[in-house]
Amino acid sequence: MNLLDIFQRDLEPQAWVEEHKIPWSELEFSRRALREHLSQEHDAASRRMSLIKKHVDWIHNDVLDGKPARILDLACGPGLYTARLTKLGHASLGIDISPASIEYALNHAPENCTYRLGDIRTIGYHSRYDLVMLIFGAFNIFKVEEAKIILEKAHAALKPGGKLLLEVNRFDAVYDTGNYPATWYSAKNDLFADEPHLCLMDSYWDDALSVAIERYFIVNPVTGAVTLYTDCMQAYEDDAYENLLKDAGFNSIQDYPSLDGEEDIQQAELKVLKARR
Ligand SMILES: C[S@@+](CC[C@H](N)C(=O)[O-])C[C@H]1O[C@@H](n2cnc3c(N)ncnc32)[C@H](O)[C@@H]1O
Repeated sequence: MNLLDIFQRDLEPQAWVEEHKIPWSELEFSRRALREHLSQEHDAASRRMSLIKKHVDWIHNDVLDGKPARILDLACGPGLYTARLTKLGHASLGIDISPASIEYALNHAPENCTYRLGDIRTIGYHSRYDLVMLIFGAFNIFKVEEAKIILEKAHAALKPGGKLLLEVNRFDAVYDTGNYPATWYSAKNDLFADEPHLCLMDSYWDDALSVAIERYFIVNPVTGAVTLYTDCMQAYEDDAYENLLKDAGFNSIQDYPSLDGEEDIQQAELKVLKARR
């Protein structure tokens, strides 16, 4: 791609087009993503450890009542939650599609904590877990049909009475993402490239599908070469989340403002749903 392609871009992009999708499973991309997960300068890919510690305490004390549990963490990233939870006496398995994150997680895993590289839409989850979690809004990166499959698999992976912890994006936050004005920045390196680059971003809201589409045009300032990454986020109203959970067989659905049970104005775009098998 080149600058002309940006100029001639489709002003109404299609949702869920595979071609330029964020390549979570690519080795080089996943190495750059890992650097962002581990950064203590922002809460972008994973949250900073101080916040993760608070979340883990809430999960341990309030969700699991401080009792040893078997935990399955879907889209676990580099295992920052699972490693801490395991150190509190739980046994954890994390699954993620990012090779660099899984390599890091395995290298830092305490006893009773393990990881598998895989796509949570298709990989087998095993069964008899006390808790299945899918956090930090990752649920919204999947199409509705895929999200339904993930919930059904999560339900089947739980013991009767086991709990699901789902941290999702609020409808308005996804809507705002899709309606954000075009913007740009320059960076020495980040998620998208190891070399200095410009990132030109534009957003689109697909009203029929309730999907926000973000496009990142990464421009090499020396050669003018452009690489496009596209990210889609599915929006759901509160009752749609509840219906999805009920359709997958969950009950006792409860809402929390954050993963420590309290309002968090820094992460107001997210909310937490707890449900039981
Ligand atoms: C926002 S990060 C959250 C990571 C982790 N849960 C945390 O909070 O630190 C989203 C994660 O989803 C993973 N991911 C994206 N698509 C996936 C898929 N189809 N299967 C498994 N993991 C996936 C990415 O590799 C990334 O680690």
